[in-house]
Amino acid sequence: MADSRAHFSSSFGFLMVASGSAIGLGNIWGFPTQAANNGGGAFVLVYLILAFLLAFPALMAELIIGRHSNSNIVTALGSLSPNTRINRLGTVLGYVGVITASLILSFYSIVAGWILAKGLQPLAELLNATQLALWLTTDSSTRDLILCGVFSAATYAIVAQGINKGIESWSKKLMPTLLLLLIALIIYVMNQEGASAGLRAYLVPDFSRISDPALLLSAMGQSFFSLSIGVGTMLIYGSYIGKTLAKEQSARKIHRDNLPRLGATVTLMDSGFSFLAGMLVIPALYVAQSQGLSVAEGDGKLISGPSVVLQVLPSLFNGMGSAGQYVAIAFFTLLSIAAITSSISMLEVPVSVATEKTPLSRTSAATIISLLIFAVSAVIVMNSALLFDAVVNMTTRYSEPFMGLVLCLFAGWILHRDKKLLQIRDQHTDLKLSWFWRIWPFYCRFLCPIFIVLMFVQSLR
Ligand code: PHE
Repeated sequence: MADSRAHFSSSFGFLMVASGSAIGLGNIWGFPTQAANNGGGAFVLVYLILAFLLAFPALMAELIIGRHSNSNIVTALGSLSPNTRINRLGTVLGYVGVITASLILSFYSIVAGWILAKGLQPLAELLNATQLALWLTTDSSTRDLILCGVFSAATYAIVAQGINKGIESWSKKLMPTLLLLLIALIIYVMNQEGASAGLRAYLVPDFSRISDPALLLSAMGQSFFSLSIGVGTMLIYGSYIGKTLAKEQSARKIHRDNLPRLGATVTLMDSGFSFLAGMLVIPALYVAQSQGLSVAEGDGKLISGPSVVLQVLPSLFNGMGSAGQYVAIAFFTLLSIAAITSSISMLEVPVSVATEKTPLSRTSAATIISLLIFAVSAVIVMNSALLFDAVVNMTTRYSEPFMGLVLCLFAGWILHRDKKLLQIRDQHTDLKLSWFWRIWPFYCRFLCPIFIVLMFVQSLR
């Protein structure tokens, strides 16, 4: 079976797909306001250090388990150990990852539906479709359900096309577009009145704000979510790094595209994108402020989270006249692209398990699973007061770090001495004795578990 699996066609393909998964809504509405409210440049610096010291090795745990086992998260965790009991436990934990990925997708699609509403509304106005524009502006569960359905259908369509024609080919097109859109929007916003004050608030470091351990831990949580760690996404993508890349390396007679380097590049692209998103969102909030919109909460801090993107920025665009409509369309296209390259990676987790563990074809598996996840989204939309925050918290605050811990423990304690792992390591003679392979196992065995447990204790307080 291993040989019939699809593989990414090049390291560029892998980088687009993995950074597509990592770069998502978390980067655009999580990171910027957190940075502006917590010491600006100082937070950015600490975040970068944490991302590399702690999240990057956890990302490597996933990529290496995937590459090593050449399979989905359930099969991988269920077959790493010579001990059958541990393998049985691994299988159960693998399913916890699959359920977490599916539940994250169920609320992510709802949020993406809201974003579609905000982006389609100025388009409808431009096209003089007033009724449609009104429908898009008016909050209703029917609207949320329909647009969530549209987004889920797009996610399904890409995943059903397979690894190369679907996920890889779309990521290769969408990720460069995403970067261009972001840069164009930054240039536009920077030229508006009030933007430079925003840039200062974002970047001037205030080191007195970053000594708070709670803050460091939440920065850590943010970087885990942002790098898509703990649900099997990076694991399955790691398993699609196949012989093709090995061939690519030997053809070039260099060892450029080894796993640690690929993982580090993804980490860098993800943090770099968050950093750039801050250069758009924070100046935009200050531009809104200079136009009389309220951008601060009771305690004087900048408002954060979804309301920035769903309320303040749309009001800002509205006040900009007809140029504002185009800016709004560009901005919500940016968010939709960021969302879909992440949602396809979430859907790939259950789909890969279904296609590798049952006789179902990719199309049937993707159809059944997408419908099931959409049904869960529908239940959440209909009971959103009760369920929305609960599902977000359960998956992102508890399941994801917990599974991050599991993956580090499996990589650190079970895979550590494995022969195949030594093979992966030995493919890269230049790195064999380098810092990575010396530090990484230690990290996975001790540092990561300790840190994640600290994070849990913190979140329970
Ligand atoms: N990393 C994505 C974001 O920042 C979210 C995500 C989580 C994607 C888990 C896949 C798996 O929005």
